[in-house]
Amino acid sequence: MRKPIVAGNWKMHKTVAEAEELVNVLSGDLEKITSVESVFCVPFTCLSKVSSLLKESHIGVGVQNIHWADYGAFTGEISPLMVKEFANYAIIGHSERRTFFGETDITVNKRLSTALKHGIVPIMCVGETLEENQKGNTVEVITHQMEIGLREIEKSLAGNIVIAYEPIWAIGTGLACDPTTANNIILQAIRKPLEKIFGLELSQSIRVQYGGSVNGGNAYDYFSQSEIDGALVGGASLKSDFIDIVKAAAK
Ligand code: 13P
Repeated sequence: MRKPIVAGNWKMHKTVAEAEELVNVLSGDLEKITSVESVFCVPFTCLSKVSSLLKESHIGVGVQNIHWADYGAFTGEISPLMVKEFANYAIIGHSERRTFFGETDITVNKRLSTALKHGIVPIMCVGETLEENQKGNTVEVITHQMEIGLREIEKSLAGNIVIAYEPIWAIGTGLACDPTTANNIILQAIRKPLEKIFGLELSQSIRVQYGGSVNGGNAYDYFSQSEIDGALVGGASLKSDFIDIVKAAAK
């Protein structure tokens, strides 16, 4: 039985004061829902504050990227050692990083491998563009992202990986992917490569989220699908809607 995991990707939102306000609005209700792993993936500047606010809580704290080296001359990057002081989760390879910051499947693989070695749960994002979708290339594109992103990952650590299927055309558009379609894509383009790489048993223990215009109204339709174990939530994670999404995962 896979424990549902719902993560809020705050993206580039919230000053420290605003983050504190949001955590105070959300954490009381989320605290009561222990059957779901809820996580706030916050900007680096909010890490210290948010992790201290949630110190006694089961709500997890995460970041939105990490570098693959422990230290070094990598201006503007942040190392897993720095992150580990505050957080246990890291989003890796989000489509916005791939599109705007040159992230590739190879750098995703390096970041993911480092996260696992440091005991940080990587939430690895995969997904197709609208054009790839319309050309019927979705399964092929995601399978490739999976194969390169998970290359040479130690099997003994792989159970900690979380995969997020985020169709790029569904992110921030209100055009959520049909839940049954998302489930089928996950089966073919995510579970199949996972099985090929890690074997059947391990592949079935790995959690897969859906992300892209998830809100309190549609979340349950995703969570009732066989292959969807949670959500990676953008816009709706910045408001009380996030509580409804976590409640839907607990149902
Ligand atoms: P939205 O929920 O705003 O569509 O964003 C999804 C996302 O990119 C989460 O990582």
